[in-house]
Amino acid sequence: MLNSLYPAARNLLFRLDAERAHHVSMAGLRVSEKLGILQSISETSPAKPVTICGLTFPNPVGLAAGLDKEANTVDALGALGFGHIEVGTLTPKPQDGNEAPRLFRLPEHQALINRMGFNNPGIDAGLANARSSTSFSGILGINIGKNKITPNEEANEDYAIAFEKAYPWADYITANFSSPNTPGLRDLQSEDSAARLLEVLKNLQSKLQQESGRYVPFALKVAPDLDTAQIARLSRVLRDGGLDFLIATNTTLERSAVAGHQNAKEAGGLSGAPLTKHSTEVIAQFHTDLGQKVPIIGAGGIFTAEDALAKKAAGASLVQLYTGFVYRGPALIHEIIRAW
Ligand SMILES: Cc1cc2nc3c(=O)[nH]c(=O)nc-3n(C[C@H](O)[C@H](O)[C@H](O)COP(=O)(O)O)c2cc1C
Repeated sequence: MLNSLYPAARNLLFRLDAERAHHVSMAGLRVSEKLGILQSISETSPAKPVTICGLTFPNPVGLAAGLDKEANTVDALGALGFGHIEVGTLTPKPQDGNEAPRLFRLPEHQALINRMGFNNPGIDAGLANARSSTSFSGILGINIGKNKITPNEEANEDYAIAFEKAYPWADYITANFSSPNTPGLRDLQSEDSAARLLEVLKNLQSKLQQESGRYVPFALKVAPDLDTAQIARLSRVLRDGGLDFLIATNTTLERSAVAGHQNAKEAGGLSGAPLTKHSTEVIAQFHTDLGQKVPIIGAGGIFTAEDALAKKAAGASLVQLYTGFVYRGPALIHEIIRAW
């Protein structure tokens, strides 16, 4: 029933400014979940479990980071059918992000451009929110990043602080070093920086595993704007450094597919349909270069079951949705689960 209501709801929401529409829909989801309405009108799909890194995901479709930045809508999003939800990006200290407007629709291209800039309540408040989730039984990913004011030379300390705090509460952790909206962040994807970050987090992971008796795998999330040589070099570092899994991809700086659109020149990351093919190619190359030992979660412009299956054929073990979910609603989750 919810699936048939979504197109009408979307028409109303798309009359609002994009960020306001986001807050209105998240609040609506929370209220309808609390009242039990969401559960009764949501579609359910049969379990299609996928196991990677010792974690069994109930189905292959997850919510990509950035939609539930505050980690306060986990139960409602879970009720829609997502098998995993990645909350955040959460940084050690709270931060406001960039000035609004900072989120733009390009409906003619089924795309979004955002320069949110990691607006988030900080890791402590985000974790408190996540811990108050009561009904979500899927896999919870916690996506972490560095504060804008932290210089890149000290970035690893920010990741370490957030990692240590997230560890007891996460099923997995993602270190996001590929947002285009924190100045200089993508420089951390260079071979040397990536190797150092990986070493810091691997050491911390084994210390925390010894203390807690629990192994929490972690991923790095990469940009689609890497050339063949950069992917090859980065893959070698990630494979040799023992990365658990990879999330590919984040948003792109590339604008050629949307050139001429009134919002095309807005600064930020482009997501949605213009990214579909390229992110799949990036996944395929990472899959070849990383080999079987490092699983990949694929994201980037998934709008149909075919898009998701193309990511699977390129080597993705699971997929995540953001922009396709905004445009298509929860029906997309179940179409993919059925087809997987
Ligand atoms: C408005 C918006 C905010 C986002 N914020 C984050 C974020 O905080 N952390 C992150 O790792 N990715 C973030 N992303 C990237 C998405 O998680 C995803 O990787 C990307 O949008 C590609 O998938 P899509 O084409 O399905 O949207 C954001 C994307 C959008 C559209």
